[in-house]
Amino acid sequence: MNKPDEQIKPVNVGILGLGTVGGGTATVLRRNAEEIARRAGREIKLLAASVRDINKSRDVNLDGILLTEDSNEIVNHPDIDIVLELIGGTDLARDLVLCAISNGKHVVTANKALIALHGNEIFLAAQRKGVTVAFEAAVAGGIPIIKAIREGLAGNQIEWLAGIINGTGNFILTEMRDKGRDFDDVLSEAQALGYAEADPTFDVEGIDAAHKLTILASIAFGLPLQFEKVYTEGISAIQKSDVEYAAELGYRIKHLGIARRVESGVELRVHPTLIPERRLIANVDGVMNAVLVNADAVGPTLYYGPGAGAEPTASAVVADLVDVCRAFTSDPGNRVPHLAFQPDAIKDLTILPMSAVNTAFYLRLQVSNEAGVLANITRCFADCNISIEAIVQKDKEDEQGCVSLVMLSHECLESNMQIALDALQKLDAVHADIVRIRVESLG
Ligand code: NAP
Ligand code: HSE
Repeated sequence: MNKPDEQIKPVNVGILGLGTVGGGTATVLRRNAEEIARRAGREIKLLAASVRDINKSRDVNLDGILLTEDSNEIVNHPDIDIVLELIGGTDLARDLVLCAISNGKHVVTANKALIALHGNEIFLAAQRKGVTVAFEAAVAGGIPIIKAIREGLAGNQIEWLAGIINGTGNFILTEMRDKGRDFDDVLSEAQALGYAEADPTFDVEGIDAAHKLTILASIAFGLPLQFEKVYTEGISAIQKSDVEYAAELGYRIKHLGIARRVESGVELRVHPTLIPERRLIANVDGVMNAVLVNADAVGPTLYYGPGAGAEPTASAVVADLVDVCRAFTSDPGNRVPHLAFQPDAIKDLTILPMSAVNTAFYLRLQVSNEAGVLANITRCFADCNISIEAIVQKDKEDEQGCVSLVMLSHECLESNMQIALDALQKLDAVHADIVRIRVESLG
C-alpha cells in the first residue's frame, strides 16, 4: 500500500518528441488531467519535452513545459520519473531509452521498431534496474492488445493470432477497393493524417507490421524478440484486378500478420492474404486495426480499434503511464513481466521457414487462350500433390490474346507450391509473372 505522502506526490513526466503521438499525448494529458489523476492515484505533471526544431509552430498547449532540442536534458533530468519516448527510429531512441533506464527512470514508448530490434537488450537493462518499459502503443495504436494478451489471456495456451496491424496499409487497401483511388494518392493522405511512419515504405512493404508481429508473437508464445526471422511481403504489388477477382470468389484481400504455433515450431509471417468476406476481420476497413487471437481455453477473441493517429495512440501511451504510476511502489519482481512470461521462462522455439508453412493460395495466370493449356497447368499441380479448389477463366482477352485464369488451391506445403509455380512459369502458354496471394480461412 502507498504511504500517505506518496499518494499525493505528483509524478513528473518528460516527453521525447511532440509530433503526431507526442502532441496527442500532451493534449490528452492536459484535457483529461483530473480523470487521469483519479485513476493513477496522483497528479501526472508534464515537466519537459524535447523536439528537433524548437521554433516549429505546434498545435499543443505547452504552457509551463520546458521545451528543449536536447533530449539528453530529459533523460538526465533529476526530477523526471517517467520518460515517454515518442521520437521514433532505433539509434537515438535506443541510446535515450537505455540512458533513462540507467538513471532509474521508467519508460513508455510507442516505438515498435525499437522494441522489435532492441527489446531484448532494453528489457534486460530495465529488469536489472527495477524499472518498467511499457509499450502498449507500439502495437495496433489505440487497441489495448498487449494488455489483453499479456494479462487477459494469461490462463491460455495461445495457438495462433492474425492481425491487421498497420493502419496506413489498411487505409490504402480500403480506399483502393471502395473508391478506386490510386495507391500513391491514398498514401499521401495517410501521411498528411499522421498515420504513416517517417519512412512510409515501412508501412507498405510490411516492415512496420513485422515489427508489431515480432512483439505479439513474443508475448503470445514466450519467445525472445526476433524480428529478423519474420517473413515479410508488402502490399505495393496488389492489383485492382486481384481485389475484384477475390471479391467475386467471396474474399477480401487484407495485409495480415500471422503468428501460429505448430508442432514443429512457430510461423511468423506478414503478407497480403485472402480472407473469406464473412469473417469479421475481413470487414475491418480504413485506418482501423483488428487482432484475432485463438487460444485453447477462451477460443477466438477479436480486438478492434483505430490502429494509428494522434489521440488513439495517445490513449495507449497514457494508459501505460497510469499503469506505471500504479506500480510505483510495488516490488519490481512482482510486476507484470515485459514479455508476459517471466524472463527466465522465455524459450527460444524454432521459427519455421516459409517453405515449411501450410496454406492455401489464390493464383492468377495470364495464359494463351487455346486447347490443352488447362490440362498442362493442372498437371503441374497434380505432380506436386496440390489439389485445386476452384478455377475461373476470365473471357476478356488482352492485347496478346491471353486470358486471366484465376485459381484457388486447397491448403498445401508452401515448398510444393513453389515447385509447381516454377514449372508453370516455364510453360510457353503462361505469359507474365504468376500472381500468388495466400489464403487463410481463419476458422
Ligand atoms: P512524428 O510525427 O514524426 O514525431 C516525431 C517527433 O520527434 C517530432 O516532434 C520531432 O521533432 C521529434 N524528434 C525527431 N528527432 C528528434 C531529435 N533528434 N531530438 C528531439 N526530437 C526529435 O512521429 P510520430 O508519428 O509521432 O511517431 C512517433 C513514434 O510513435 C514512432 O516510433 C512511431 O512508429 C510510433 N507510432 C506512431 C503512430 C502514429 O499514428 N503516428 C502510432 C503508433 C506508434 P519536430 O516536431 O521538431 O520535428
Ligand atoms: N504507421 C503505423 C500504422 C502507425 O499506419 O499502423 C501505427 O503504428
